[in-house]
Amino acid sequence: MKRLRKALVPAGGFGTRMLPATKAVPKELLPIVDKPLIQFIVEELVESGFEELVLVTGRQKGSIEDHFDSMPELEDLLAAKGKTDLLRTMQALSKMIRIVSVRQPYPLGLGHAVLCAKSILKDEPFAVLLPDDLIVSKKPCIGQLADVFNEFGRPVIAVLRVPDDDVMHYGIIRPRTVREGLHEVIDMIEKPPREQAYSNLAIIGRYVLPPDIFSALEETTPGAGGEIQLTDAIKRMLGRGSVLGLEYEGRRFDAGNKPGFVKANIYLGLRHPEVREELLSFIQTLDLASDLA
Ligand code: G1P
Repeated sequence: MKRLRKALVPAGGFGTRMLPATKAVPKELLPIVDKPLIQFIVEELVESGFEELVLVTGRQKGSIEDHFDSMPELEDLLAAKGKTDLLRTMQALSKMIRIVSVRQPYPLGLGHAVLCAKSILKDEPFAVLLPDDLIVSKKPCIGQLADVFNEFGRPVIAVLRVPDDDVMHYGIIRPRTVREGLHEVIDMIEKPPREQAYSNLAIIGRYVLPPDIFSALEETTPGAGGEIQLTDAIKRMLGRGSVLGLEYEGRRFDAGNKPGFVKANIYLGLRHPEVREELLSFIQTLDLASDLA
């Protein structure tokens, strides 16, 4: 089994749920307090020992790569002003991880985005991280999945119990429990109506996949929403051996929609040393009856 060292992040979408903010700014660069969403993903990867990130991008997404590039003019300015802490933070960004990008010419779905990286990932297992899913945890979520992958040598997807009313927003698995919090995936379905959902265990945007996924994706026809779905390709792999679903430890925010994005900002604002106190006292002064009137 080849070592897990590469990860793919699809970043080609328009981010329509966050318009107008995402008209000219990629949704992956929207900040949670002072850090863009994509940086949380890169930190999760670095902490989990990954070495290379394959970014699947599209038009107007070049600023994502700029964020992880060096910026000599800014670094000179910060040095001249004696802002050494900020200077170090900026310099660290360009050394975090090796980034390779590939374009997804049309937004044909998550499965299609993964397929766009076939020639780069070739015959290695790899992780997939969806930047909309921000997961705050002690041990990075993708590291938790990597541990299971290293233990069993099988594909692993992150799963979370969601309210029955929400199943239609997610890929849903039919589980057979292996041990507490770890399930074998018996079947899966993308965004089912409530009555067709096998369970309330939803797929969250963290996966560890083998290179066989590419042939499965090539055989996959458009599914839910008319898109090539990663869920449908993983379902094809179920016949070739087990796929595991891990109920990871951590708190997840859907930062790709407005309520989730605001919640993530409040939660991480309350954990940010420069923001915490002021935010907390502001919240305590809120008088919901009159402020919301
Ligand atoms: C994608 C996946 C879906 C998963 C979800 C998690 O859907 O296709 O299976 O449950 O991410 O965030 P999307 O939300 O990108 O439509």
